[in-house]
Amino acid sequence: MDLEARFERTIASEQRVEPRDWMPEGYRKTLVRQIAQHAHSEIIGMQPEGNWITRAPSLRRKAILLAKVQDEAGHGLYLYAATETLGADRADLTEKLITGRQKYSSIFNYPTPSYADVGVIGWLVDGAAICNQVPLCRTSYGPYARAMIRICKEESFHQRQGYELLLTMMAGTDAQRAMVQESVDRFWWPALMMFGPPDAESTNSEQSLAWRIKRDTNDELRQKFVDMTVPQAEKLGVTLPDPELRWNAERGHHDFGQPDWDEFWQVVKGNGPAGAQRLAHRRKAHEDGEWVREAARVHSEKKRGVE
Ligand code: 3HC
Repeated sequence: MDLEARFERTIASEQRVEPRDWMPEGYRKTLVRQIAQHAHSEIIGMQPEGNWITRAPSLRRKAILLAKVQDEAGHGLYLYAATETLGADRADLTEKLITGRQKYSSIFNYPTPSYADVGVIGWLVDGAAICNQVPLCRTSYGPYARAMIRICKEESFHQRQGYELLLTMMAGTDAQRAMVQESVDRFWWPALMMFGPPDAESTNSEQSLAWRIKRDTNDELRQKFVDMTVPQAEKLGVTLPDPELRWNAERGHHDFGQPDWDEFWQVVKGNGPAGAQRLAHRRKAHEDGEWVREAARVHSEKKRGVE
């Protein structure tokens, strides 16, 4: 059987493609693109909530937030390691991120001016991430699927801690309830945008679905997220800011309005409300870390010299 046929049979039989297997160059490139941008999202995603670590209202909240932000760093490292099994170079990917040649999730370009954002990000953003990442545990590329299994376990802690924070605030004062509602109003539509453009504008979906890199379409996962989140919002006592949101018994799903896709593409192009700040912060962190990389390089050369 030729290599291409063997690859096709692996995909069709729901087996996993491993790093040493032959794969079409397009498959490899698509994986590097998606996994690198996924990793970039995890690393940039540390910034919005990191903003509140020093201002958390209690030691317990601070410890939980620290643990969550550290988890995101770890998720980024797993995913960069997965790209390296495809021959990508981590330094090159970082360079592409900080020079705007690779993307990260639009959601992290929105500011977090209120402490309630910490809870809403856990509930909505990590909730959306769970909807999007659980199917990726069945992605056809082995290292990516295995990274997803570990990451999804930690995401459920992220989502639960956010929801519990909001339940606490909603049981508090009117001012705290208003803070939560104001944060939900700001994050609801950007959370729906996380799943990508409408299927009709998704340039990568068809091929990614054929290669079983993606297991569902953008709109399918968005619908799943809305159906999962509406009852949670009701339990919380918050209103989701979509006048078209209603249960459609015929479809067995919620009907909902469309995000502002012009806003989405502007944010994806780097013109989001906090886009420049996020990249500048990442660029500075990279530059400030140069001495560590230099020391590690000299150390490894010395060691090699000794051996
Ligand atoms: N933000 C930024 N860019 C986006 C985007 C978003 N929310 N949605 C789509 N895009 C980009 C795509 O990258 C693509 O551009 P490219 O070809 O230059 O990469 C273009 O818009 C067209 O979109 P497609 O639907 O054709 O792209 P994909 O098939 O890659 O689908 C995706 C986009 C659904 C994000 C898919 O890449 C995916 O599932 N990625 C893995 C999961 C991921 O990256 N999640 C991001 C959040 S990570 C996170 O939430 C961490 C948690 O801890 C909070």
